[in-house]
Amino acid sequence: MRKIIVGLTGASGSLYFVHLIKQLSLQEIKLHVIASKLGEEVLTYETGLILQEFIKDMSKNKAEITLEKNDNLFSACASGSSRFDAMVIIPCSMSTIGKLAHGITESLLTRAADVMLKERRRLVLVPRETPFSTIHLQNLTNLSKHGAIILPAMPGFYTKPQSMEELIDFMVGKTLDCLEIENKCYERWEGINEK
Ligand SMILES: Cc1cc2nc3c(=O)[nH]c(=O)nc-3n(C[C@H](O)[C@H](O)[C@H](O)COP(=O)(O)O)c2cc1C
Repeated sequence: MRKIIVGLTGASGSLYFVHLIKQLSLQEIKLHVIASKLGEEVLTYETGLILQEFIKDMSKNKAEITLEKNDNLFSACASGSSRFDAMVIIPCSMSTIGKLAHGITESLLTRAADVMLKERRRLVLVPRETPFSTIHLQNLTNLSKHGAIILPAMPGFYTKPQSMEELIDFMVGKTLDCLEIENKCYERWEGINEK
C-alpha cells in the first residue's frame, strides 16, 4: 500500500489541504498528516474546522489515516528507513520553506520533508505568499535544485472556473498529478483546433 505524508503549515490556503485530504481519503493508501501549530490555527480561522475532528471524519473513508504529533520525532515519518512514497506540504509557509532550504528540522513536519530530500523521494511543496521576496525566491530555487517539486498555489483560469471550489480543485488535481494519483479534479487541456 502506498504511504503518503501530507503536511499543513500556517500559510493561507488551508482549503487546499481540506480538499486534498478529502480526495486522498478516498484512496487505498496509508496517509500520515502532520500539522504545525500555526497550520492548525489558520485552518480553524479560515474554515472553522478543527483538525482532529476533520481527520476523524475523513478516517471513515478508504484511506488509513494517522494524525501525527508535530513534536514526535520518534514517528516513522522521521526516518528514511520507513520509505514513504511521497510527501506534500499544502499550503507551505515561507517560514517552513526557509527552514527546509537550510536543513533545519526541529519539528516532525520539517524533519519528514528533510528525509524526503535526503532519500531523493518525491517532495511536493505548495508555497503561498505574495509578493515573494528575493529570500523566498532563493530558498524556493534551492529546494527545487535539490529535487523538491515547487507547485505554487496559482490556479489556472483557462478552465473558466465558476466557483472557488473549482479553483481549489485545479490546484488539488495538479497536486494529485505530482503524487501520481489518477484524478478528475480539473478539466485537462485538449487543445483548440483551428476553425
Ligand atoms: C491568518 C494568517 C495567514 C497567514 N498567511 C501566510 C501566508 O500566506 N504565507 C506565509 O508564508 N505565512 C503566512 N502566515 C504566517 C505564518 O503562519 C507564520 O510565518 C508561521 O510562523 C508559519 O509557521 P509554520 O511554517 O510552522 O506553520 C499567516 C499567518 C496567519 C495568522
